Amino acid sequence: MSGIVSHITGARPNFPKAAPVLRALGDAGVPQELIHTGQHYDDRLSAVFFRQLGLPKPDIDLGVGSGTHARQTAAVMIRLEEHFTRSRPAMVVVYGDVNSTLATALVTAKLGIPLAHVEAGLRSADRSMPEEINRIVTDQLSDLLFATSEDAVEHLRREGVMEDRIHLVGNPMIDTLLANLDQLDVEVARASFGLPDRYAVATVHRPANVDDPADAVEFVRALHSVADQVDLVLPLHPRGRTRLADAGLGRHPRLRIVDPLGYVEFLSLVRGAVAVVTDSGGVQEETTVLGVPCLTVRPNTERPVTVTHGTNQLVTRAGLSQAVEAVLAREAGRPWPVPPLWDGKAGPRIAEVIAAALR
Ligand code: UD1
Ligand code: UDP
Repeated sequence: MSGIVSHITGARPNFPKAAPVLRALGDAGVPQELIHTGQHYDDRLSAVFFRQLGLPKPDIDLGVGSGTHARQTAAVMIRLEEHFTRSRPAMVVVYGDVNSTLATALVTAKLGIPLAHVEAGLRSADRSMPEEINRIVTDQLSDLLFATSEDAVEHLRREGVMEDRIHLVGNPMIDTLLANLDQLDVEVARASFGLPDRYAVATVHRPANVDDPADAVEFVRALHSVADQVDLVLPLHPRGRTRLADAGLGRHPRLRIVDPLGYVEFLSLVRGAVAVVTDSGGVQEETTVLGVPCLTVRPNTERPVTVTHGTNQLVTRAGLSQAVEAVLAREAGRPWPVPPLWDGKAGPRIAEVIAAALR
């Protein structure tokens, strides 16, 4: 077995989670490799994060691309199994809940290689979400489970994970946010989109909001009801682009649809927004730390601390208009608490546990 730690990333939300862990392990002198599965491949969903977050160029790109769940998961498994059989890393680290995470966990566990899961224990209790299945299986197969919040720790305990495997370390995605805070320039972002002082930002990509044409029509109606009240910018994820367009998304003069943005450009816009409308996981966390009101258009969240400790609120598509109205009427600048340990030091905490396990 080599002494290498192998990090597997594949999709947009993986990159800001992996960056601080790679950096901290590098500082500790641990040999590492970075593998990109190729689940996301567009520059705007992938390469831009490597450039902006100072991630090293991936040592290997598996180039799996898009496909059905089975095809995409299987492609990662087949290619990774070949690689790990030859290289036998000392530990494999996976991030979040995407198909690349699940595929890697299955291969790693069956080869008997130690597996670490960053962002373990999050649960929406909604198995219609593919991510919930990915989270549950990955956690069951992991040897080291790094949790971002106390509720995640509780889920793992309840599912029978042994106590000594669970580590409450905080949130590496927030490490990346805090490390880049100086670069988030609201004025530049506002000027580049020609926006007034008050504007809102939206993102949408969950299958439950965009895969079915009827859901897409409802989501478009909801977004238009927001744009009736405030200028709205939507950096649009490729998933559902066609369905949302077919549902008339483009037909509102105060709704600006743009391509997905780089990390710095996106969070600069978010930082200055009066509200964010989203169904993203990571954006719920980032808005909580930035103190920007977040309206999450989903029936549940695997990140309840963003509601109890942060700025997040779950809303229905039908209830979005009223929720935005209430946010716009609110006094700005109220203080908000941030979840415990979301302090920019999760990466070093994770690295310390991994380095100790390797010894
Ligand atoms: C995936 C994750 C989701 C995560 C999201 C982050 C799974 C099951 N889902 O969803 O948890 O929140 O990434 O953004 O892993 N596409 C492109 N260019 C790309 C990649 C994809 O155009 O670079 C298009 C393809 O048409 C593809 C579709 O987007 O079929 C969906 O991509 P996929 O990676 O399967 O799932 P996401 O919806 O992106
Ligand atoms: N993000 C970005 N550009 C965008 C939209 C999102 O850089 O146009 C960032 C966002 O700030 C967060 C990550 O992408 O760091 C979240 O990814 P996404 O919403 O795709 O996935 P999820 O978190 O829902 O799994």
